[in-house]
Amino acid sequence: MTTSNHIDNKKPLLGVNIDHVATLRQARGVDYPSPLRAMQICEKAGADGITIHLREDRRHIQDHDVYEIAENITTRLNLEMAATDEMLEIACKVKPYWVCLVPEKREELTTEGGLNVAGQVDTLKDYVQKLQEHGIKVSLFIDPDREQIDASIACHADAIELHTGAYAEKGLAKDIEAEQAELNRIKDAVQYAKKANPELFINAGHGLTQQNVGAIAAIDGLYELNIGHALISDAVFEGLSQAVVLMKAAMHADKA
Ligand code: PXP
Repeated sequence: MTTSNHIDNKKPLLGVNIDHVATLRQARGVDYPSPLRAMQICEKAGADGITIHLREDRRHIQDHDVYEIAENITTRLNLEMAATDEMLEIACKVKPYWVCLVPEKREELTTEGGLNVAGQVDTLKDYVQKLQEHGIKVSLFIDPDREQIDASIACHADAIELHTGAYAEKGLAKDIEAEQAELNRIKDAVQYAKKANPELFINAGHGLTQQNVGAIAAIDGLYELNIGHALISDAVFEGLSQAVVLMKAAMHADKA
Protein backbone atom coordinates (compact mmCIF):
# COMPACT_ATOMS: atom_id res chain seq x y z
CA MET A 1 0.00 0.00 0.00
CA THR A 2 1.36 3.41 -0.92
CA THR A 3 0.88 6.08 1.70
CA SER A 4 3.50 8.64 0.64
CA ASN A 5 2.09 12.02 -0.28
CA HIS A 6 2.77 14.01 -3.40
CA ILE A 7 5.85 15.64 -1.92
CA ASP A 8 7.62 12.27 -2.20
CA ASN A 9 6.17 11.42 -5.56
CA LYS A 10 8.48 11.84 -8.54
CA LYS A 11 5.80 10.58 -10.91
CA PRO A 12 2.06 10.40 -10.29
CA LEU A 13 0.48 7.12 -9.31
CA LEU A 14 -2.08 5.43 -11.56
CA GLY A 15 -5.57 4.80 -10.27
CA VAL A 16 -7.52 2.66 -12.73
CA ASN A 17 -11.24 3.34 -13.03
CA ILE A 18 -12.93 0.02 -13.87
CA ASP A 19 -16.51 1.31 -14.23
CA HIS A 20 -16.67 0.44 -17.90
CA VAL A 21 -15.99 -3.23 -17.30
CA ALA A 22 -19.30 -3.11 -15.46
CA THR A 23 -20.85 -1.07 -18.33
CA LEU A 24 -20.15 -4.02 -20.65
CA ARG A 25 -21.65 -6.47 -18.18
CA GLN A 26 -24.77 -4.38 -17.57
CA ALA A 27 -25.34 -4.03 -21.34
CA ARG A 28 -26.22 -7.75 -21.38
CA GLY A 29 -27.50 -8.23 -17.84
CA VAL A 30 -25.17 -11.21 -17.32
CA ASP A 31 -22.42 -11.77 -14.74
CA TYR A 32 -19.39 -11.13 -16.97
CA PRO A 33 -17.02 -9.38 -17.46
CA SER A 34 -16.34 -9.17 -13.74
CA PRO A 35 -15.09 -5.87 -12.28
CA LEU A 36 -13.53 -7.91 -9.47
CA ARG A 37 -11.43 -9.84 -11.96
CA ALA A 38 -10.58 -6.58 -13.73
CA MET A 39 -9.36 -5.18 -10.42
CA GLN A 40 -7.13 -8.21 -9.87
CA ILE A 41 -5.62 -7.91 -13.36
CA CYS A 42 -5.01 -4.17 -12.93
CA GLU A 43 -3.36 -4.67 -9.55
CA LYS A 44 -1.12 -7.45 -10.91
CA ALA A 45 -0.11 -5.17 -13.79
CA GLY A 46 0.96 -2.39 -11.44
CA ALA A 47 -2.08 -0.17 -10.87
CA ASP A 48 -1.57 1.82 -7.68
CA GLY A 49 -5.25 2.05 -6.89
CA ILE A 50 -8.70 1.13 -8.15
CA THR A 51 -11.51 3.62 -8.69
CA ILE A 52 -15.21 2.81 -8.98
CA HIS A 53 -18.15 5.18 -9.23
CA LEU A 54 -21.36 3.98 -7.61
CA ARG A 55 -23.87 6.12 -9.44
CA GLU A 56 -27.33 6.87 -8.13
CA ASP A 57 -28.82 5.21 -11.25
CA ARG A 58 -26.51 2.14 -10.90
CA ARG A 59 -25.79 2.25 -14.62
CA HIS A 60 -22.51 0.33 -14.28
CA ILE A 61 -21.06 -0.49 -10.83
CA GLN A 62 -23.60 -2.24 -8.56
CA ASP A 63 -23.68 -2.30 -4.78
CA HIS A 64 -22.38 -5.89 -4.62
CA ASP A 65 -19.36 -4.85 -6.75
CA VAL A 66 -18.45 -2.21 -4.17
CA TYR A 67 -18.49 -4.75 -1.32
CA GLU A 68 -16.61 -7.45 -3.28
CA ILE A 69 -13.96 -5.03 -4.47
CA ALA A 70 -13.50 -3.49 -1.03
CA GLU A 71 -13.07 -6.95 0.49
CA ASN A 72 -10.50 -8.14 -2.02
CA ILE A 73 -8.49 -5.04 -2.88
CA THR A 74 -4.76 -5.13 -2.16
CA THR A 75 -4.01 -1.53 -3.22
CA ARG A 76 -6.41 1.31 -2.32
CA LEU A 77 -10.04 1.76 -3.19
CA ASN A 78 -11.23 5.17 -4.35
CA LEU A 79 -15.03 5.26 -4.25
CA GLU A 80 -16.50 8.04 -6.37
CA MET A 81 -19.96 9.12 -5.34
CA ALA A 82 -22.38 12.01 -5.09
CA ALA A 83 -22.72 13.69 -1.69
CA THR A 84 -26.08 12.13 -0.80
CA ASP A 85 -27.38 10.45 2.36
CA GLU A 86 -27.66 7.09 0.60
CA MET A 87 -24.01 7.18 -0.50
CA LEU A 88 -22.84 8.33 2.93
CA GLU A 89 -24.44 5.27 4.48
CA ILE A 90 -22.81 2.92 1.96
CA ALA A 91 -19.37 4.56 2.25
CA CYS A 92 -19.43 4.36 6.04
CA LYS A 93 -20.15 0.61 5.80
CA VAL A 94 -17.57 -0.09 3.07
CA LYS A 95 -14.87 2.24 4.43
CA PRO A 96 -12.85 2.72 1.21
CA TYR A 97 -9.40 4.27 1.56
CA TRP A 98 -10.65 7.31 -0.42
CA VAL A 99 -14.02 8.75 -1.23
CA CYS A 100 -14.05 11.19 -4.13
CA LEU A 101 -17.13 13.40 -4.15
CA VAL A 102 -18.39 14.18 -7.62
CA PRO A 103 -21.37 16.04 -9.04
CA GLU A 104 -23.93 13.75 -10.62
CA LYS A 105 -26.73 14.33 -13.06
CA ARG A 106 -28.92 11.46 -14.23
CA GLU A 107 -28.93 12.52 -17.88
CA GLU A 108 -25.16 12.99 -18.25
CA LEU A 109 -22.98 10.48 -20.14
CA THR A 110 -20.14 10.92 -17.67
CA THR A 111 -19.10 13.36 -14.91
CA GLU A 112 -19.26 16.51 -17.00
CA GLY A 113 -17.93 19.19 -14.69
CA GLY A 114 -16.35 19.62 -11.30
CA LEU A 115 -18.20 19.91 -8.04
CA ASN A 116 -19.24 23.44 -7.15
CA VAL A 117 -17.57 23.36 -3.73
CA ALA A 118 -17.50 27.16 -3.44
CA GLY A 119 -21.29 27.24 -3.61
CA GLN A 120 -21.83 24.76 -0.77
CA VAL A 121 -18.92 24.96 1.68
CA ASP A 122 -21.04 24.60 4.82
CA THR A 123 -22.90 21.45 3.73
CA LEU A 124 -19.86 19.84 2.16
CA LYS A 125 -17.68 20.57 5.18
CA ASP A 126 -20.08 18.57 7.38
CA TYR A 127 -20.31 15.78 4.83
CA VAL A 128 -16.50 15.56 4.53
CA GLN A 129 -16.18 15.45 8.30
CA LYS A 130 -18.66 12.57 8.63
CA LEU A 131 -16.62 10.50 6.19
CA GLN A 132 -13.36 11.40 7.91
CA GLU A 133 -14.83 10.35 11.27
CA HIS A 134 -15.13 6.87 9.73
CA GLY A 135 -11.42 6.89 8.85
CA ILE A 136 -12.02 7.68 5.16
CA LYS A 137 -9.86 10.19 3.30
CA VAL A 138 -11.90 12.57 1.18
CA SER A 139 -11.15 14.02 -2.22
CA LEU A 140 -13.22 16.65 -4.04
CA PHE A 141 -13.47 16.55 -7.84
CA ILE A 142 -13.23 20.16 -8.98
CA ASP A 143 -12.45 22.25 -12.03
CA PRO A 144 -8.89 23.65 -12.03
CA ASP A 145 -10.04 26.90 -10.50
CA ARG A 146 -8.56 28.85 -7.57
CA GLU A 147 -11.94 29.60 -6.00
CA GLN A 148 -12.80 25.88 -5.93
CA ILE A 149 -9.38 25.04 -4.47
CA ASP A 150 -9.82 27.57 -1.65
CA ALA A 151 -13.29 26.19 -0.96
CA SER A 152 -11.99 22.59 -0.91
CA ILE A 153 -9.34 23.58 1.63
CA ALA A 154 -12.05 25.33 3.67
CA CYS A 155 -13.98 22.01 3.67
CA HIS A 156 -10.87 20.28 5.11
CA ALA A 157 -10.66 17.89 2.17
CA ASP A 158 -7.62 15.59 2.21
CA ALA A 159 -7.32 15.81 -1.57
CA ILE A 160 -8.60 17.51 -4.65
CA GLU A 161 -8.95 15.89 -8.04
CA LEU A 162 -8.59 18.35 -10.89
CA HIS A 163 -10.97 17.80 -13.80
CA THR A 164 -8.89 17.34 -16.97
CA GLY A 165 -11.94 16.95 -19.24
CA ALA A 166 -11.70 20.38 -20.87
CA TYR A 167 -8.00 19.80 -21.65
CA ALA A 168 -8.86 16.41 -23.18
CA GLU A 169 -11.74 17.82 -25.23
CA LYS A 170 -9.62 20.61 -26.76
CA GLY A 171 -7.02 18.01 -27.71
CA LEU A 172 -9.65 15.80 -29.39
CA ALA A 173 -10.89 18.87 -31.29
CA LYS A 174 -7.27 19.48 -32.40
CA ASP A 175 -7.46 23.01 -31.00
CA ILE A 176 -3.81 23.20 -29.98
CA GLU A 177 -3.98 26.73 -28.52
CA ALA A 178 -7.00 26.00 -26.36
CA GLU A 179 -5.48 22.67 -25.29
CA GLN A 180 -2.33 24.50 -24.15
CA ALA A 181 -4.45 27.08 -22.33
CA GLU A 182 -6.28 24.29 -20.47
CA LEU A 183 -2.96 22.64 -19.65
CA ASN A 184 -1.69 25.94 -18.23
CA ARG A 185 -4.87 26.26 -16.18
CA ILE A 186 -4.20 22.82 -14.66
CA LYS A 187 -0.53 23.67 -14.00
CA ASP A 188 -1.55 26.92 -12.31
CA ALA A 189 -4.11 25.08 -10.18
CA VAL A 190 -1.53 22.52 -9.02
CA GLN A 191 0.97 25.24 -8.09
CA TYR A 192 -1.68 27.29 -6.35
CA ALA A 193 -3.01 24.31 -4.37
CA LYS A 194 0.48 23.17 -3.34
CA LYS A 195 1.23 26.63 -1.99
CA ALA A 196 -2.15 27.09 -0.33
CA ASN A 197 -1.89 23.79 1.54
CA PRO A 198 1.28 21.71 1.18
CA GLU A 199 -0.47 18.77 2.89
CA LEU A 200 -3.19 18.53 0.26
CA PHE A 201 -3.02 15.56 -2.13
CA ILE A 202 -3.53 16.75 -5.70
CA ASN A 203 -4.96 14.26 -8.18
CA ALA A 204 -6.23 14.72 -11.71
CA GLY A 205 -8.36 12.83 -14.16
CA HIS A 206 -11.03 12.60 -16.82
CA GLY A 207 -10.56 12.03 -20.52
CA LEU A 208 -6.91 11.09 -20.18
CA THR A 209 -5.48 8.89 -22.94
CA GLN A 210 -2.07 7.54 -23.92
CA GLN A 211 -1.87 10.50 -26.31
CA ASN A 212 -2.60 13.32 -23.86
CA VAL A 213 -1.45 11.93 -20.51
CA GLY A 214 2.26 12.78 -20.87
CA ALA A 215 1.87 16.53 -20.39
CA ILE A 216 -0.32 16.01 -17.32
CA ALA A 217 1.94 13.36 -15.77
CA ALA A 218 4.89 15.76 -16.16
CA ILE A 219 3.30 18.37 -13.86
CA ASP A 220 5.24 18.53 -10.64
CA GLY A 221 3.15 17.95 -7.54
CA LEU A 222 0.47 15.64 -8.88
CA TYR A 223 -0.11 12.63 -6.65
CA GLU A 224 -2.35 10.36 -8.72
CA LEU A 225 -4.08 10.23 -12.08
CA ASN A 226 -7.40 8.43 -12.36
CA ILE A 227 -7.96 6.92 -15.78
CA GLY A 228 -10.82 4.76 -16.97
CA HIS A 229 -12.53 4.99 -20.34
CA ALA A 230 -9.45 5.19 -22.58
CA LEU A 231 -7.59 2.53 -20.61
CA ILE A 232 -10.46 0.04 -20.79
CA SER A 233 -10.83 0.92 -24.50
CA ASP A 234 -7.13 0.16 -25.04
CA ALA A 235 -7.64 -3.15 -23.26
CA VAL A 236 -10.18 -4.20 -25.89
CA PHE A 237 -7.63 -3.94 -28.68
CA GLU A 238 -4.75 -5.25 -26.60
CA GLY A 239 -6.82 -8.37 -25.92
CA LEU A 240 -8.91 -8.82 -29.08
CA SER A 241 -6.53 -10.97 -31.14
CA GLN A 242 -5.91 -13.33 -28.21
CA ALA A 243 -9.68 -13.58 -27.66
CA VAL A 244 -10.12 -14.71 -31.28
CA VAL A 245 -7.36 -17.32 -30.87
CA LEU A 246 -8.94 -18.61 -27.65
CA MET A 247 -12.44 -18.80 -29.15
CA LYS A 248 -11.17 -20.77 -32.15
CA ALA A 249 -9.32 -23.14 -29.82
CA ALA A 250 -12.55 -23.61 -27.80
CA MET A 251 -14.51 -24.32 -31.01
CA HIS A 252 -12.07 -26.91 -32.25
CA ALA A 253 -11.09 -28.47 -28.92
CA ASP A 254 -12.75 -31.86 -29.51
CA LYS A 255 -11.71 -32.08 -33.18
CA ALA A 256 -7.97 -32.43 -32.57
N1 PXP B 1 -12.06 11.05 -12.15
C1 PXP B 1 -13.37 11.23 -11.89
C2 PXP B 1 -13.75 11.98 -10.67
C3 PXP B 1 -14.36 10.71 -12.74
O1 PXP B 1 -15.66 10.91 -12.46
C4 PXP B 1 -13.96 9.94 -13.86
C5 PXP B 1 -15.00 9.34 -14.74
O2 PXP B 1 -15.78 8.44 -14.02
C6 PXP B 1 -12.59 9.76 -14.07
C7 PXP B 1 -11.66 10.33 -13.22
C8 PXP B 1 -12.08 8.94 -15.21
O3 PXP B 1 -12.41 9.52 -16.42
P1 PXP B 1 -12.20 8.70 -17.75
O4 PXP B 1 -13.11 7.51 -17.69
O5 PXP B 1 -12.55 9.66 -18.82
O6 PXP B 1 -10.75 8.28 -17.79
